[in-house]
Amino acid sequence: MSFQIAIDGPAGAGKSTVAKRVAAALGFIYVDTGAMYRAMGLYFLDRGVDTDDEESVNASLDGAEVTLDIIDGNQVVFLNGQDVNGRIRTEEAGMMASKTSAYAKNRQKLVDTQQKIAATQNVVMDGRDIGTVVLPDAPLKIYLTASVQTRADRRYKELIAKGQEADLAAIARDIEQRDYQDMHRENSPLRRADDAILVDSSDMDIDEVVNTIVTYAKEKM
Ligand code: DC
Repeated sequence: MSFQIAIDGPAGAGKSTVAKRVAAALGFIYVDTGAMYRAMGLYFLDRGVDTDDEESVNASLDGAEVTLDIIDGNQVVFLNGQDVNGRIRTEEAGMMASKTSAYAKNRQKLVDTQQKIAATQNVVMDGRDIGTVVLPDAPLKIYLTASVQTRADRRYKELIAKGQEADLAAIARDIEQRDYQDMHRENSPLRRADDAILVDSSDMDIDEVVNTIVTYAKEKM
């Protein structure tokens, strides 16, 4: 039997950094499901699919294969055999992912893949619907959040550190818009599962968040 840790929460709460480190501490594999939605977003962009039209999106789904591999300890996402790890991290790919992740058939395709991965391996999986839909029986569920201001500040600093231009107010607006989209969609909206533990990282550093989750995991295991 595999052990699963589900980590859900809004964009920019630090889920992927935290999930990666929790996985390393426990010797589990880390699955970033947002990366899979981003890869699908790129697919629609590359193919020129009209993403305002759900039928067009549905009709194009069979042409996309999203797979994951672990290379040097890091998750690498492939879209039809091509490494898209670099390309999925743009704001454009994020927005496209947020928009098209509202469509049920697109979601089902990725949820199937995610459930297969978690069935046979110990995983830390992060996303929006892991505790509610993908792994409803996960023994440990975390809902990781932080205030909009905190999340915008973190993203701003990341971009500046990379030498990119950044506008704090615009970042905060994007975060609010993405939260709204993710929480108000009809299919698998972002919400805290009833049995998920709430962790608000606004005033915590990464070590504290990681230690908190690892401690819960050890108790449950
Ligand atoms: O976590 P992220 O920013 O990489 O996710 C990109 C988008 O994908 C996000 O706006 C919502 C969507 N997503 C989802 O609907 N369900 C998931 N399990 C993961 C991400």
